[in-house]
Amino acid sequence: MIFKNFSEEFNGKLILITGGNGQIGSEIVESYLQASAKVICLDPEPPQKQHDPNRFEWIKTDITDKKEVESFFAKLIEKNSIPDILINCAGISVFSPFEERTEEQFNGVVQVNLNGTFLLSQAIFRIWKERNIKGIILNFGSIYGVSIADMRIYGDSGRNSPEVYAITKAGIIHFTKYLARYAAPYGIRVNCISPGGIFDNQHPDFIKNYVYKTPLGRMGEPTDLIGAIFFLTSSMSGYITGQNLLVDGGFTIGD
Ligand SMILES: NC(=O)c1ccc[n+]([C@@H]2O[C@H](COP(=O)([O-])OP(=O)(O)OC[C@H]3O[C@@H](n4cnc5c(N)ncnc54)[C@H](O)[C@@H]3O)[C@@H](O)[C@H]2O)c1
Repeated sequence: MIFKNFSEEFNGKLILITGGNGQIGSEIVESYLQASAKVICLDPEPPQKQHDPNRFEWIKTDITDKKEVESFFAKLIEKNSIPDILINCAGISVFSPFEERTEEQFNGVVQVNLNGTFLLSQAIFRIWKERNIKGIILNFGSIYGVSIADMRIYGDSGRNSPEVYAITKAGIIHFTKYLARYAAPYGIRVNCISPGGIFDNQHPDFIKNYVYKTPLGRMGEPTDLIGAIFFLTSSMSGYITGQNLLVDGGFTIGD
């Protein structure tokens, strides 16, 4: 078998990404653009830098708003501009302790992480199925969708990994498996990537504790995820579906 390089692989492909203007998403956008793809980014926040307008489009969208999502897909169909790959990267969390969680906070995280992933996946699945397009979906889980956060590593950092984030990320991993099986007869693949903690100038105590628990001895960088993302959205992974790939420096192997 002759393997293509990633520019050959993604040249002319249209990538749809949610949350593409965040810390991880913007690295993903940049990487696909470098690999000759075109990118549409759905995010309420603007991009952190300018890209070639012929290959990058930001559409200010709240993925929890069904009407906004429907009108976005209606316009895509009108233009016959159908994405080849969907990356459900948008995700949020809250940081207050469990006993202080409000229903609004809880529902807010569920809405973005679960409902958003569901809405986008269902909309694109319908389009691909109807047109016989063998698309690829990549969802975003987390180490905390697989293992339970050790609260001791947060100390007095003011951060905390909440139950609702864990629940939604576990749900996304399970949704990935469900949809992989459901979509397989149509040649559509669905996988998930679960990153470990990404360095973002967190509290030094938290970083120290987190790194201590990480076999590779450091926090992740957004660039650490790109190899796995390219692999799971390319023909190199053509016989892989329903999987959750942990990219976490070994954080979860001790669990
Ligand atoms: N950073 C980490 O340590 C880490 C670890 C594991 C998993 N993850 C997951 O990776 C993904 C990206 O995380 P990140 O660190 O880049 O977060 P981030 O906060 O930097 O970016 C998230 C992006 O999602 C967008 N977003 C929020 N609500 C939205 C909505 N309703 N509709 C559309 N877009 C919305 C935000 O505007 C933002 O641009 C998330 O799913 C997150 O849970 C992150």
